[in-house]
Amino acid sequence: MQIHSAIPDLRAALNNRRGIVFVPTMGNLHAGHIALMAQARARGDTVVASIFVNRLQFGLGEDFDKYPRTFAEDCEKLSAAGVDLLFAPAENDLYPETQQYYVDPPEIQSQLEGAFRPGHFRGVATVVLKLFNIVRPEVALFGKKDYQQLMVLRNMTRQLALPIEIVGGETVRADDGLALSSRNGYLTPAERAEAPRLHRVLRGISDAVRNGRRDFAKLESEAVAELGRNGWKTDYVAVRQQVDLRVPQPGNTVLVVLAASRLGKPRLLDNIEIQAVQHER
Ligand code: PAJ
Repeated sequence: MQIHSAIPDLRAALNNRRGIVFVPTMGNLHAGHIALMAQARARGDTVVASIFVNRLQFGLGEDFDKYPRTFAEDCEKLSAAGVDLLFAPAENDLYPETQQYYVDPPEIQSQLEGAFRPGHFRGVATVVLKLFNIVRPEVALFGKKDYQQLMVLRNMTRQLALPIEIVGGETVRADDGLALSSRNGYLTPAERAEAPRLHRVLRGISDAVRNGRRDFAKLESEAVAELGRNGWKTDYVAVRQQVDLRVPQPGNTVLVVLAASRLGKPRLLDNIEIQAVQHER
């Protein structure tokens, strides 16, 4: 696996490469990231990964400085997963001058994650567009774990007519259902034992909706209450339309339930796609 940190070096190495499939990450890689690398390997001739902890997408008081950085282990995992090139820029490579041009996602950025992390999706969309311009992939893969991020990046790619296919990878979970995340490392052993509740609660909502319930507000508030009784501080539990993450229109059965909740220090995210059956009244 080649490793490049300077943009001109990466560009030179990618010159004449065809069928580039790209997986951007912030490192501290786990089986969820590696599953994306395996899908990339299966789809393309050249697999490019990136590791860059992007300051632009972290809010004040978030964990930018403490974000786990495990570069040597990450390189071993990427190499074993068949990644051809790793782009690992320093901050000065990607932002040699203060970034003044941004991609500003529409209204969606102020909902769900956006409501609790102002500016987050602006930072994500800006760095991903920049990475796309550097790597120039045909295909880029993102995890459904960060469902709203995937939607923002899909819409950006479509509206800006970028010649890139955006592919979503399924969420990889631990055996007990907890979605893998770099931030799980902040959980104490007791919190780690409690953590799968988030997924169980979402499963409960998903089952209820598949069985015909449409009283989403009630399902959501019951979930928040159950989490609260077990020590969680919940930002949102929300049933939304998959297509645009808006509140479901009557009759729309292609839904997703998303949640963000804090257990001790870390804030955990999860979601489940729901294909509800149409019930006769
Ligand atoms: P990061 O959190 O490192 O995630 C990199 C990719 O791995 C994202 O597409 C994310 O959705 C995916 N991923 C994380 N956990 C996963 C899991 N358990 N199962 C499947 N996929 C999972 O997301 C980012 O970095 C950044 O915002 C980035 C897109 C790199 C821009 O800075």
